[in-house]
Amino acid sequence: MGKANKPSFSKGADGPLTRRQFIAGSGAALSFTILKPGMVRGTAANSKIELGLIGCGQRGTWLAGLFMKHGGYQVVAGADYFQDRVDAFGEKFALPAERRYTGLSCYKKLLDGKVDAVAIESPPYFHPEQAAAGVEARVHVYLAKPIAVDVPGCQSVEESGKKATAKKQCFLVDFQTRTDPLYQEAVARTQKGDIGRIVSGEATYIANIPWERQIEDLKPDPSNPERQLRAWGLFRALSGDVITEQNIHAIDVATWILDGHPERAYGVGGQKARSFGNCWDHFSVVFTFPNDVLVSFCSKQYGEGWDDILCRLYGTDGTVDTHYFGDVSIRGKKPFAGGKVDDLYPNGAIRNIAAFYEDVTKGEFSNSTVAPSVRSNLTTILGRTAAYKRAEVTWDEMLASGEKFEPNLNGLKA
Ligand SMILES: NC(=O)c1ccc[n+]([C@@H]2O[C@H](COP(=O)([O-])OP(=O)(O)OC[C@H]3O[C@@H](n4cnc5c(N)ncnc54)[C@H](O)[C@@H]3O)[C@@H](O)[C@H]2O)c1
Repeated sequence: MGKANKPSFSKGADGPLTRRQFIAGSGAALSFTILKPGMVRGTAANSKIELGLIGCGQRGTWLAGLFMKHGGYQVVAGADYFQDRVDAFGEKFALPAERRYTGLSCYKKLLDGKVDAVAIESPPYFHPEQAAAGVEARVHVYLAKPIAVDVPGCQSVEESGKKATAKKQCFLVDFQTRTDPLYQEAVARTQKGDIGRIVSGEATYIANIPWERQIEDLKPDPSNPERQLRAWGLFRALSGDVITEQNIHAIDVATWILDGHPERAYGVGGQKARSFGNCWDHFSVVFTFPNDVLVSFCSKQYGEGWDDILCRLYGTDGTVDTHYFGDVSIRGKKPFAGGKVDDLYPNGAIRNIAAFYEDVTKGEFSNSTVAPSVRSNLTTILGRTAAYKRAEVTWDEMLASGEKFEPNLNGLKA
């Protein structure tokens, strides 16, 4: 990989933001004052979409700022398990005390308080139940990846997406790569046959650990369920483990380009470089896609010195090469020069926020981000299951097992 592909951001797509990325995201204010025929809840023409934020942590707070900068939204409520988190959020967005909700049922109280839409930015374990409740409450749902930590969770989100469509509500899953013009062009050309028949490829997510704050939160009492909740990224049942929570960005691109899911996977990995929590810090998985296309996946979340989120597929006539923080190109008989991806971390979210607004206001309820998100999420779970077993697992075996992850929520307040 050339130097140009070395990402300028050392924490991966799921780490805290650099100042550069904050600034890049700040020019996004758009002013829409159009009718909202598709709004489920009765909001008047030219009014803003009233948004509730569930999970008022790092990304939730940052995204809420982007929603406000868009111009078509008003953040009106916040829900977080922890009072200090929702209060910090509430101060930032001038929310009255009665629109700040806490406890495990915080999202239910927020939904009872009437909003037009919710953005769900809580730990992944909670995504399926919170998204289902949003759809049930007839609000539009903007959901962070990963959509779920296990197979039943993925199936629940799939169902919620379909229900939302049937009830004329929007449901958008926030993957950044799929919004990027260079990625879109490279994928379209590859699917058209520009690299010939794809034989094999690789998907890689190399990063250091983005959980410094969570480690500090956990340290004083590592077995305390509240501290584990603050440190959710370190626990399999809350996060889905590194392969699902973080590495999904690389795997999602592979399933997107190949437009399918793997038939089976063989994997290994472990926890050798970290002593806290029970997530692994490295994975190596070989996925077999239809037509025997082999994709080698490799990730690590420790150490220093190199970062990249890549997916590269090799065809009989060329190679498609994609990097979240670098270049996208096709080399070979039908080259595509592509270029440097333009600040995908903020710009992907900004485009998703704009697309969500367009869908809500224009009544576009196909919710096309849901199915590919379910597919790539299940692919990460297949890889994880195979790696934990150090064995080959088929897609059908994974689905049939229906394995459910249960975190330790003992004693947490309702
Ligand atoms: N590039 C990306 O798309 C990207 C980047 C970062 C994070 N994420 C995703 O965003 C989500 C949030 O990540 P983050 O980095 O902001 O984490 P965070 O820990 O900073 O925020 C999560 C918040 O959720 C709160 N919370 C815990 N349990 C809750 C519950 N039951 N209900 C409501 N809130 C609860 C926590 O107290 C915390 O404030 C995760 O799903 C993560 O994978 C996506």
